Amino acid sequence: MTIPEKTGRFQDKTAIVTGAAGGIGEGYARALAAEGATVIVADLNEAGQAVADDIGGTFIKVDVADEDSAKAMAAAAVEKHGKINYLVNNAAIYGGMKLDFLTTVPWDYYKKFMSVNLDGALNVTRAVYKHMPRGSAIVNQSSTAAYMYSGFYGLAKVGINGLTQQLSVELGGQGIRINAIAPGPTDTEATRTSTPEAIVKDMVSKLPIARMGTPADMANMLLFLLSDDASWITGQIFNVDGGQVFRP
Ligand SMILES: NC(=O)c1ccc[n+]([C@@H]2O[C@H](COP(=O)([O-])OP(=O)(O)OC[C@H]3O[C@@H](n4cnc5c(N)ncnc54)[C@H](O)[C@@H]3O)[C@@H](O)[C@H]2O)c1
Repeated sequence: MTIPEKTGRFQDKTAIVTGAAGGIGEGYARALAAEGATVIVADLNEAGQAVADDIGGTFIKVDVADEDSAKAMAAAAVEKHGKINYLVNNAAIYGGMKLDFLTTVPWDYYKKFMSVNLDGALNVTRAVYKHMPRGSAIVNQSSTAAYMYSGFYGLAKVGINGLTQQLSVELGGQGIRINAIAPGPTDTEATRTSTPEAIVKDMVSKLPIARMGTPADMANMLLFLLSDDASWITGQIFNVDGGQVFRP
């Protein structure tokens, strides 16, 4: 993927990116490392080890839905690096997710899904924020699915947006900013395997900028939101979607 000119602006900073074993999260991890950050690749999937090795980062296996697992990840990160400057709550059940309706999805699947895709971001934030100095920043991964029908997947992303807004108030006093990125259809292995090609093609043909998004498109927004250029921006959700949805 193409990353813009390196600035080194994240030199001496430590970043945790959840769900960074592949897809957009891997793009985030690579972009942060290219800008000088020390990156913790945090994922349930051990493929994250190869990503960490490639970017000179550290892989920590974590289940974002599990309180003890998130606390252990934060403790290991602090032990190794002393502090955590950035947290990117990107992990979600997306690739290979069950396609079902809110009215029929089995409760156990729904509850597991929400524990990862919504509560996971809160769980990891609760484990990490105490270790973040003033000037730190968090980015949550939403989706344009929050603004259109997409069942329990979209509902979890509506929750992510609300969580971002609510937490901005609780964290602002400690000098921690929190925002969200809402990607439109983005070309990752998970999209290729989870969404039928015809549906993606149809969606993309209707976009004002009629191409799929890339992990690099998302990473450009991430780097801005984490940087000091965004120091007065918190509690906001930013679409990176080729103009897919209008928002109030
Ligand atoms: N690709 C798209 O079109 C698109 C669009 C909008 C939003 N998103 C969001 O972007 C993020 C990444 O999407 P992607 O396309 O790279 O998909 P992906 O499935 O490749 O990425 C999700 C990552 O989260 C990890 N994960 C899942 N459950 C976990 C858990 N309990 N604990 C820790 N890690 C866990 C997976 O192993 C995987 O590496 C997701 O939040 C997704 O909802 C994707």
